[in-house]
Order: sequence, then C-alpha cells, then structure tokens
Amino acid sequence: MKRDYAGKRLWITGASSGIGRALALDAAARGAGLVVSARRKDILEELATECRAAGSPSCEVLAFDLADPRARAAACATVLAAGPLDGLILNAGMSQRATFLETSPEAFDAVMSLDFEAPVELLRACLPSMLARGSGLLVAVSSIAGLAGSPLRPAYSAAKHALAGLFQCLRSELLGSGLRVLTVYPGYVRTAIARTALGPEGRATGEEDANIAKGADPMKVARRILDAGLSGPLELKVAFDLKSKFGLFLSRHLPWAWASLSARHAKLGDRGYRPGNSRSVSHG
Ligand SMILES: NC(=O)c1ccc[n+]([C@@H]2O[C@H](COP(=O)([O-])OP(=O)(O)OC[C@H]3O[C@@H](n4cnc5c(N)ncnc54)[C@H](OP(=O)(O)O)[C@@H]3O)[C@@H](O)[C@H]2O)c1
Repeated sequence: MKRDYAGKRLWITGASSGIGRALALDAAARGAGLVVSARRKDILEELATECRAAGSPSCEVLAFDLADPRARAAACATVLAAGPLDGLILNAGMSQRATFLETSPEAFDAVMSLDFEAPVELLRACLPSMLARGSGLLVAVSSIAGLAGSPLRPAYSAAKHALAGLFQCLRSELLGSGLRVLTVYPGYVRTAIARTALGPEGRATGEEDANIAKGADPMKVARRILDAGLSGPLELKVAFDLKSKFGLFLSRHLPWAWASLSARHAKLGDRGYRPGNSRSVSHG
C-alpha cells in the first residue's frame, strides 16, 4: 500500500459506518493522521484502534451531533485548536423515504440540517486556515440524488443538489488557492443509509433497500475517493451501475421519461399515494 497520504491530517465526518468508516480505514493505511467524527463514540473508539493498527500515526475521536449547531461549532474549534487540517471530508448524511407532501416540516429540516447546513458550517469554520496555508483537500459526498432528483427523497435530493452546487461554486472561487475541491456522487453502496432513512414523521424506517443491499463494496468506493483526492476527476461518479447511468441520462435529456420511470420504481401507487389525496398531506 502506497503511503500517499502520509503527513496529512484529514477530518472525516460520518466515520462510524459505511463509506466514512471505509474512508478512515483506507486513509489510515495510506498514512494519514485522522479526526473521525459521528455520534456513536464507542464505535469511533474501536475504529480509531483499527486505524492506528492499519498505519495511521494519530486518530482523534470526536463524538457529536452534526445537526446541532452549537455542538458542530465546538467540534470545529476543537479540531482547529489541535493542529492544522489538510483535508475535510464532508461525508456524514442521511436519506429519507417519504413524498414531499407526506414529509413533516421537522423531518425536512432534519435532513437539510445534516446534509447541507452542517457541511456549510464546517466549511465556514475550516476553510480560512486551509486557505492561509495554501493547500488542502475539500471533499463533498453528494449522491446520484444530487444529480437527478428522486421521488421519496425530496429533502435529500435538495440537500445533495445544494451541496454539489456549493462545491462547483467553491471550485471556481478557490482556483489558484492550492486547494483541491472534489465532489463525489455515489450510486448504490452497501451501507446502512436505507435503514437510517427518515420516514414522514422523522423516524428511521429501518427498512433495507434491495439496490443498496446489492450495492458496491464501501472499501472500493473509499479507495476511488481517496485516489481522486490526489489526482484525476474533480466530479467523481462512483458505484454507478447500468440502471444509474440510464436514469441519469433520462433525467438530463428526457425529463418526462425520468419522472415516469422513477415514479414506477419508487412504487408510489403501491404506497397509496395520489397527488392531492388527504393521506399525502397529513402529518398526524
Ligand atoms: N450508500 C449509498 O448508496 C449512498 C449513495 C449516495 C450517497 N451516499 C452518501 O454517502 C454518505 C455516507 O453514507 P453511507 O452510505 O456510508 O451511510 P451510513 O452507513 O448510514 O453512514 C452515515 C454516517 O453518518 C453519520 N451521521 C448520521 N447522522 C449524524 C448526525 N446527526 N451527526 C453526526 N453524524 C451523523 C453516521 O454516524 P452516527 O449514526 O454514529 O452518528 C454514519 O457514520 C452520505 O452523505 C450519503 O448521503 C450514500
């Protein structure tokens, strides 16, 4: 294994599971010092032990709720006080499974807060010192839903589009600064993302998604992301199967066909959903 991240200190959010955990393990083997964050401290502590064993010179654990503005401000202060940051990987996120009209305002806000506001606030806090040093890596983990809006994921699609748009803007604004600005759009990756997706009232559905259960290995995805962190495409589509590629093509070139196909795929009819019926606007 090449130690091509040796001497760098990376902060990876959402490191307790899935893609974030895989990123931490791969970055550790490539020699990076790490800050790993998520809510579940015990899992992060175990991960830190694994990362040190894999070759990371240091692995700091930061357990906090990214959706809590005060907790994330405190976390940023802690990370920056401990030393310079060479990379910020904005990976934490959660999805949802409810139509726009079914989704309570609180559930909508919860997704936006974690998937968009938290990355904005972390950037606001960390970017100035990275700019002052004239080098560094910014990574946004968006989604295929950040390229093509999908039914039952209204806040998630909005947040992932917003994150991708922000990064496109930053890439121009930071041109010549020495910072590398990378946006990642995963397709289907085998993680907990479907089980933790929020239902209409903001509780996790706990339901598996067949496409995600059959999705790509998170370790392979992590390797592609960290490779792109050093060179190659700045807009990385990863774990796109044929269905994802076809869907993306339709959304771009035949929007009506994408609407029809994605509505059928989401089985909106089977859910009893009809635009305008009373069930679809009731939040209980
Ligand atoms: N898997 C896919 O197919 C797929 C496809 C497209 C995009 N993505 C994106 O990939 C990223 C990683 O997701 P994943 O698939 O690896 O899902 P995952 O296994 O569910 O991991 C999500 C991570 O986010 C953390 N997190 C959730 N809520 C948090 C909160 N309030 N505060 C702090 N951390 C929180 C979780 O940790 P705790 O629960 O310990 O807090 C966990 O570490 C997400 O941005 C997701 O949208 C995934």
